[in-house]
Amino acid sequence: MKISAVILAAGHGTRMLSSIPKVLHPLMGKAMLHYSVDAASAATGSKPVIIIGYQAELVQQTIGESAQYAIQDPQLGTGHAVQQAEDLLRDKADLILVITADMPLLTERTLRQVLNAHQSTGDQNTPITMLTVNTVEPRGFGRVRRDQEKRVIGIVEEAQATPEQLTIQELNTSVYCFDADWLWEALLRIPLSPKGEYYLTDLVGTAIADGMSVQAVSLEDPEEAIGINNRVHLAEASAVLRERINRSLMLGGVTLIDPGATYVEAGVQVGQDTVIWPNTYLHGDTLVGRGCNLGPNTIIRDSHLGDNCRVLSSLLEGARLDDEVDMGPFARLRKGAHLGRGVHMGNFGEVKNSYLGPGTKMGHFSYVGDTTTGPEVNIGAGTVTCNYDGEQKHHTEIGAGAFIGSDTMLVAPVRLGEGARTGAGAVVTRNVSDYTLAVGAPARSIRKLEKK
Ligand code: UD1
Ligand code: MG
Repeated sequence: MKISAVILAAGHGTRMLSSIPKVLHPLMGKAMLHYSVDAASAATGSKPVIIIGYQAELVQQTIGESAQYAIQDPQLGTGHAVQQAEDLLRDKADLILVITADMPLLTERTLRQVLNAHQSTGDQNTPITMLTVNTVEPRGFGRVRRDQEKRVIGIVEEAQATPEQLTIQELNTSVYCFDADWLWEALLRIPLSPKGEYYLTDLVGTAIADGMSVQAVSLEDPEEAIGINNRVHLAEASAVLRERINRSLMLGGVTLIDPGATYVEAGVQVGQDTVIWPNTYLHGDTLVGRGCNLGPNTIIRDSHLGDNCRVLSSLLEGARLDDEVDMGPFARLRKGAHLGRGVHMGNFGEVKNSYLGPGTKMGHFSYVGDTTTGPEVNIGAGTVTCNYDGEQKHHTEIGAGAFIGSDTMLVAPVRLGEGARTGAGAVVTRNVSDYTLAVGAPARSIRKLEKK
């Protein structure tokens, strides 16, 4: 059986009151639509077709090659939306799985259950299997109508429901598996709704009128059916995703001191025996090794950390730490900062586009930019690499074991030799040779030092 998925994502999402399409709002670091694409691809083993309309180009750019696209313009309802996939899928798929892009919590497992249930009827007379949820919170969903024998006979949208129908607690999740041949033909027969749209939900009534039956599968975990129509729902879904991520981290051997105050985005990886203290945020393309100690009050974005690192109350963006780095409190790493093994960086320091060699110490308020240091360098309090001359950035190079006195200005481009030393307050405008002491402003080399 060939199975293809169709994801409905053409709507504006008016109730979000937003200039960006609803389906592109971020949830734990990924656009909402990514979750549907991932779940649908995993469940069907093929690229889904996304129905796009509102800001179609932006949606397509965001998701890229992981899906196919069909345009719906104008947007005349969910039934009309599915129709737009026909050209791409007719005669290419036997079963069509339809989901909406505003239900990011649906799992691959649930989608497989719907597909399996549909396939196991093995019955030409059941062209639809739908996923329903039983809950006391209707959230504006369509209500599932059943007859006295409990057979599904229709879906009624909230706006059209009678007071009695409004009390029905079985709701339509908008996840369906259709027999493809029946679907393409039945879509032509959907009546126009009172709102002037073609509702996919009306296909249930169509099947019943054809003398066929509709199968319903009940969702085990109602949380998965949190559909996002406004920003309250967005926050609810985000909380569920955060809990899922935190839970899987803990079950994978990571200690979270307070999971409720730990924010780890989808796709971040953390090694065993790492401890994460409250108010810590791990964003984007971030990898953390084993045995690290992060936070409290730490933000790490797009950074790779080795094993046994300690980061306290600090901000890291686009940085790399080798093993056993000790940072903070109140340190900042910007793009291209790379701290070698065992580096110690204390408070109020900033490092950008630089490599600090293994064992280097930068204990107190300093700025290091566009610099390479050898191992075991000591960067005194208040050291500044003056890397920008108002037009261009310049490089600073510091040799192994150099000792930079407090409040030294290194005016780049400049090189401090291996084992070189600067006096407190030196303004270094020219290279200092290996094992040489330079002092003053501008700094002069005044004597040779003994190799240790
Ligand atoms: C829909 C269902 C409702 C169900 C609910 C579950 C219909 C008529 N109603 O209502 O029974 O309980 O989902 O979440 O199907 N879309 C298009 N093109 C359109 C209209 C919508 O692509 O012309 C897309 C939207 O971008 C969205 C999805 O379809 O991703 C659902 O649309 P939405 O307006 O949110 O429908 P609901 O009111 O939630
Ligand atoms: Mg919706």
